[in-house]
Amino acid sequence: MTSKTTEGDPQGLANLLAQADLTVEGQLSGASNATLLCWVDDRRNDDPLSDEPIRCVYKPKRGERPLWDFPTGTLGRREVATYLLAELIGWGSIPVTVWREDGPFGPGMCQAWIEANSTRPAVDVVTPREVPEGWRVVLEAQTYDGQDVVLAHEDSEELQRIAVLDIITNNADRKGGHVLRTPLGNPQGIDHGLAFHVEPKLRTVLWGWAGEPLDPAILRDLKALVSILEDRPQHSTEFGHYISESEYSALLGRITHLHDTGRFPDPGPEHPALPWPPM
Ligand SMILES: Nc1ncnc2c1ncn2[C@@H]1O[C@H](COP(=O)(O)OP(=O)(O)O)[C@@H](O)[C@H]1O
Ligand SMILES: [Mg+2]
Repeated sequence: MTSKTTEGDPQGLANLLAQADLTVEGQLSGASNATLLCWVDDRRNDDPLSDEPIRCVYKPKRGERPLWDFPTGTLGRREVATYLLAELIGWGSIPVTVWREDGPFGPGMCQAWIEANSTRPAVDVVTPREVPEGWRVVLEAQTYDGQDVVLAHEDSEELQRIAVLDIITNNADRKGGHVLRTPLGNPQGIDHGLAFHVEPKLRTVLWGWAGEPLDPAILRDLKALVSILEDRPQHSTEFGHYISESEYSALLGRITHLHDTGRFPDPGPEHPALPWPPM
């Protein structure tokens, strides 16, 4: 199904998500914040036989659960910033995400819904014998009843880009369930509210390439991103409006550092490296 929600015409979809009427269908269970599934009224689509309703996730600012380390009311804006950064670098690794002032419950972020293909996850917990060929094992563990399991993820360029975005945005919450696969097969990252903090907080399940050299194409893209961000004043880009000045300079510092080291970092001892629960 649908290529419209995730692939195709991101700018058209962004305009639609920013302007169309939203009808709340329900609240997503298991979410940490008030995270609502909405139906987007697509008046552009006059095809009566279309069976492709457009949906989005809407997180109203006032439904954010307060956290000790991130200022309340900024999480949705961090999600928009992550999307815009992924677009600036040209990776398309995140579903279209916009900010709107006039959602059904006030200001908040809207993100295109992905009809995720859950039969082929990009990150998984399996027994050691079930690890798909070529996957990277991140962690070995035992279940309460003594069974050996491993946390592992696929080894693909698309997933590497998500891992690199996490490193540069300082994502503190890359759980396995925050990587979804689109119907066309691309892994996409979701849930980027805990990003852009000025202090190191990288918590991710995507450690499978730790210490390895970055792909030359990724290095080239990082270099281009640094020049885009350095050449323009923060507020001349749309992206620059969604994070603070200190967060912007910390971001530039992280990108430059990653580019100069040229390698995926190793987990450090300063803070927990894995999100909990990992999936
Ligand atoms: N863009 C999306 N497309 C498809 N499913 C999504 C999307 N965003 C969130 N979800 C689903 O909703 C759940 C809760 O969303 P999440 O972003 O984790 O919210 P919260 O900020 O409350 O933690 C996710 O685990 C996922 O299953
Ligand atoms: Mg979540």
